[in-house]
Amino acid sequence: MSVDVQEKNQSPAAAGRGGITLGARAASAKENGNAQQTAGRPHVIAEDCSVWYRTTEAVKKVNVEIQQGKVTAIIGPSGCGKSTFLRAINRMNDLIPGCRVTGKLAFDGTDIYDPCMNVVHLRQRVGMMFQKPNPFPKTIFDNVAYGPRLKGQKGRAILEEIVESSLRRSALWDEVKDRLHDNALGLSGGQQQRLCLARALAVEPEVLLMDEPTSALDPQATMRIEDLIAELRDNYTIIIVTHNMQQAARVSDFTAFFYEGVLVEFAPTEQIFTNPQQRCTEEYITGRFG
Ligand SMILES: Nc1ncnc2c1ncn2[C@@H]1O[C@H](COP(=O)(O)OP(=O)(O)OP(=O)(O)O)[C@@H](O)[C@H]1O
Ligand SMILES: [Mg+2]
Repeated sequence: MSVDVQEKNQSPAAAGRGGITLGARAASAKENGNAQQTAGRPHVIAEDCSVWYRTTEAVKKVNVEIQQGKVTAIIGPSGCGKSTFLRAINRMNDLIPGCRVTGKLAFDGTDIYDPCMNVVHLRQRVGMMFQKPNPFPKTIFDNVAYGPRLKGQKGRAILEEIVESSLRRSALWDEVKDRLHDNALGLSGGQQQRLCLARALAVEPEVLLMDEPTSALDPQATMRIEDLIAELRDNYTIIIVTHNMQQAARVSDFTAFFYEGVLVEFAPTEQIFTNPQQRCTEEYITGRFG
């Protein structure tokens, strides 16, 4: 199937057919009307941004403005470039030979690919969580203290404070406060993912990139991460890749639909799920492919 970017006629809400239930977040977006479209300011801006693996253009001339303090979901079928685009934002693709970015990608007004960009600082400001929890084979305490130590923080009392507040923000403190010096690999999958969130939060990032953060978790652990996203949203810009459209509808303010590397549609989540403007989006969210 090729990308159909023809505007379709205003159709009846696709939501009914797709069975997507908008969460409280999207419902409140409805109440706020256009406020959702104008609130915040652009925090990450892509202009004709392409990401290449050698000669293959995996992300094609994307133009988007990601709002500060909002949750943006990236959806689309497997292989459409979601992770590639997400990783470009904190230059995780730098580690892949032959991968390069063309066009413009800016964070907080600065070109992410400027040769002067300090990538370590960028990754402190733009944190990331992956599909599979990836704690270091260290203690729970050392996992969370890792970033602050890398930034030069040596004071034990300050580190203890950072570790506690980060674990509280990721709703893990009560479960681990008596075992901070146990190996993190002894935690359950859901706990490990919340530990990875605490580790990311410990360096006070401004943006959190989440690549399918709940796909390896059971429904209860998934719910906890979704609740955390709701709690964090005002203080962080969150970009979450998800295959779960219910999740996108529940947690996000804006949704970007990618297909074959192209950003087909970007709009308030409610609009994407109730009145998508592109036929291709509608076909995807109603489960006709993907
Ligand atoms: N390291 C790589 N080298 C070469 N090609 C790659 C590499 N990583 C991804 N690709 C290709 O780039 C395209 C986009 O991949 P990407 O992983 O971004 O998709 P995705 O939307 O995240 O898919 P999924 O939902 O399966 O995770 C795919 O065609 C993929 O095969
Ligand atoms: Mg992916």
